[in-house]
Amino acid sequence: MNYPGTFVKVCNIDDIFEGEAKLFEINKYDVLVLNVKGDIKAYYGRCAHALGLLEPYSFDGEDRITCPVHLWEYDAVSGKSINPEGSSLFPLDVKVEGNEIFVKVPNIPQLEFKVKWFKMYSESQKIAEVEK
Ligand code: FES
Repeated sequence: MNYPGTFVKVCNIDDIFEGEAKLFEINKYDVLVLNVKGDIKAYYGRCAHALGLLEPYSFDGEDRITCPVHLWEYDAVSGKSINPEGSSLFPLDVKVEGNEIFVKVPNIPQLEFKVKWFKMYSESQKIAEVEK
C-alpha cells in the first residue's frame, strides 16, 4: 500500500535474530519489526481490534502475532488476522541495505493515519474476505 511515509533506519540486521521481534517508537509511531524465518517484516505496532500495543513477545517466533489485550491472532507474514478472520495489521514497507534495516514510517499525524489509513486498510481486508 502506498501510504505517506519516510524510510527511517530502525536497527541493524544482526540486532534481530530469526524468531525475534523488537518494538520501536519512531516519530511517535509504534513500529513492530520481526525476523520471520530470515525475512524482515514490519507492522504498525497497534492491533486492528482496539489499538492494543503489540509488544515484542506478541510474536511467537514462528508464524503468529497474538495481541496481548484480547488475544486476536495474526499471520506474521501477511499481517492478516487468523482469529478472528477478516481484519489485518498494517504492514509497513521494509528495505534492507547491507546490514541496515529501514522502515517506511508514516509522516502524517497519527490521528489521520488511524482514521484514513489504518482503518481503511483493516476495512479493505474485511471487504476482501466478504467478496471471497
Ligand atoms: S486490542 Fe488487540 S485483541 Fe483487542
